[in-house]
Amino acid sequence: MKKLLDPYPVDAVETIKMEGYGSENYKITDQAGRSFVLKYYKDPSKYDLVGSENRLVEILSENLPFSLSRPAFPDLGLVRYKDGSFSRVLHFIEGSFLAEVDHSEKLLVDLGQSMAKLNVELLKYRDPVIESYRHSWDLSRCLTNWASVRFIEPSGRKLVDYFFDQYQHFVQPQIPELRHSIIHNDWNDWNILTRNERVCGLLDFGDMCYAPLINELAIALAYVMMSKENPISGTVPIVEGYCQILPLTEIEISILYYLIAARLCQSVCHSAEKKAKGDDTEYILISEKPAWELLEKWPSISPVDMTKAFLQAGGLKKRVAASFDHVRNLRTKNLSSSLSLSYEVPVYMSGASFQYMYDAYGNTYLDAYNNIPHVGHCHPRVSLAISKQIRRLNTNTRYLYDSIAEYAEKLLSYFPEKLNKVFFVNSGSAASDLAIRLANTFTHRNHILVLEHGYHGNTRLGIEISSYKFDGKGGKGASENVTTLPLPKTYHGIFESGAAYANDAIRRIDLLLEDGTHPSAFIAESISGCGGQVPLADGYLKSLKSYLDRKDILCIMDEVQVGFGRVGHHFWGYERHGIIPDIVILGKPMGNGHPIGAVVTTSEIADAFDNGMEFFSSFGGNPVSMEAAKAVLEVIEEEGLQENALEVGRYFEHKAREYADEAPYIGDIRCEGLFLGIEFTNPETGKPATEYASFIKNQMKENYVLTSTDGPYDNVLKMKPPLCFNRENVDRYFEVFVQLIKGKDEI
Ligand SMILES: Cc1ncc(COP(=O)(O)O)c(C=O)c1O
Repeated sequence: MKKLLDPYPVDAVETIKMEGYGSENYKITDQAGRSFVLKYYKDPSKYDLVGSENRLVEILSENLPFSLSRPAFPDLGLVRYKDGSFSRVLHFIEGSFLAEVDHSEKLLVDLGQSMAKLNVELLKYRDPVIESYRHSWDLSRCLTNWASVRFIEPSGRKLVDYFFDQYQHFVQPQIPELRHSIIHNDWNDWNILTRNERVCGLLDFGDMCYAPLINELAIALAYVMMSKENPISGTVPIVEGYCQILPLTEIEISILYYLIAARLCQSVCHSAEKKAKGDDTEYILISEKPAWELLEKWPSISPVDMTKAFLQAGGLKKRVAASFDHVRNLRTKNLSSSLSLSYEVPVYMSGASFQYMYDAYGNTYLDAYNNIPHVGHCHPRVSLAISKQIRRLNTNTRYLYDSIAEYAEKLLSYFPEKLNKVFFVNSGSAASDLAIRLANTFTHRNHILVLEHGYHGNTRLGIEISSYKFDGKGGKGASENVTTLPLPKTYHGIFESGAAYANDAIRRIDLLLEDGTHPSAFIAESISGCGGQVPLADGYLKSLKSYLDRKDILCIMDEVQVGFGRVGHHFWGYERHGIIPDIVILGKPMGNGHPIGAVVTTSEIADAFDNGMEFFSSFGGNPVSMEAAKAVLEVIEEEGLQENALEVGRYFEHKAREYADEAPYIGDIRCEGLFLGIEFTNPETGKPATEYASFIKNQMKENYVLTSTDGPYDNVLKMKPPLCFNRENVDRYFEVFVQLIKGKDEI
């Protein structure tokens, strides 16, 4: 140490080792009480770069109202040692770190202004050494950090994949249009010194690089946001201050959301890699926890909201794209009015991620309703699988290709041995249609048994087997080759047990048989969605299935809504009933929004269908669909989503029952994993409380929680959220729900 100091005119009385990254750092105090920082660099290759930094900081110091860590003895330049290592001594700047002080508005505005003042100076400066330096903290090279995502657990990996992918698509194409400059590149709260609510110093120019100017602000915002309850309002003053000195463009501001997220991803990738290599010093990992916390919160922040707030802070207004009325009118003009819109005032959606959706005005909705984005809206594994495959090959099942063979094998591994053949189609409707054709071909009959309120599809055949449609508004009743059986519902049902319902069904089928009508198949969901989230009463399916077997009537289970782990206790809803169906139909969640459906059956039934007429679906089973579907299964497994559905579903049920006592309108609570229903009944009349349900649904939406209603009286609040729904989301749900039911019951 002493030797390192020899070349400098400093009479040290105290030397303290400080944390450092890329150099060894010592705080030196001399006889006169002056303090310095000695920086010792072991890596000779940094010599030119640090030399450039020294020169630049000297020049900047003359024009800025706050101190920079500048050379204390500029005439000495850098001191080089025999082995190529070198050192320099900088002035020590007194002040309190931004990380340690209260962030008053005044301080944050000053922070923005200070940063902009530095950037104004830097925009004038060129330095070939700094400009050609490439390092791993350069935000514009953040995608090179993506490889380290392999060191991160799946639940965190999905966020990193998602936001790097967003960066790739929404930021990277804009980079050539952005203003570039040398930037400090690390305005983090341990590099910024403050005094009396003002920035008084800036440290560590070691990460400087030539990059888009806006990266400077993005990095600073990322660190300040880590300590903020509300990251947007908590940092608006910084943007305001910045733009007062150096106005930003609309493009620069509108990519901030993605840049900040990318910086967080870069940071957690760094920490993960360091940890994996055993290099995890406290200094390196200092922001790991807060970076993760903010990254986990990020999907609940609307990009529209952030952009709107920052544009306003920068004195700019977002150009309004299409307006609500315009879009609505266009839709009304061109689409049939038989397509409905949800809610009294429909939501004008602009984006979504995982369990959150964003409207065009910047509001974030907690999605407790949509079941198709099963593993989460826009899950990166699915988007990346689709986008990779669509660039390589998308064709039909008349060629050999890997993914259909692999996915068929994988999907069938979730079924008992007997169910060992699969047909791929594009929707649940195509699946139910095909299932009925398979059954009718196999049995040489065409009479179908259905449950009341059941829904299985929108094709002509689908409507024919859907009591929800043919018995509903505009329906013409059951056709003569369909028999409707009562829905085995124990709450407000005609019987109290599954066994009684099964006996009743058997009696009805016996009558049909006596009449000379031999049904081909029975079709049902194990939890009736359109019936109002009604799990079939215990024992019903088991008794009925053994009867159907005896009568050679096939059993088709519709897993379009229920399947793929949603019910938590099992992967398929029918499994809870201890039966093995003859045919299973799949859809909705299978491709997380990519249109794909399937029919799974036995080889006997599949073989009987091969009667010379080819089965062909232009899109069914294409390579892109197969990759999407493969990705969905992988995510369910890797992120433990079935287990999560069970755990979070139980928590939901527990909370719902806790509040039920205070809510006289809650008649029944039905929860199987994340297939959830709350039925409202008027406590005085005992009648379905349809208006009450509608009020709650619409008001939940006004409070940014999406649910829906269903059931024959539309009095059942239904929830089937993406399976990444978590306990905090449940808490938020009940915060709104309880406030509403209390308000409503008092009226
Ligand atoms: C239980 C059930 N089966 C089948 C279908 C039809 O699926 P799709 O809309 O993909 O044609 C639906 C759709 O709502 C459904 O809920």
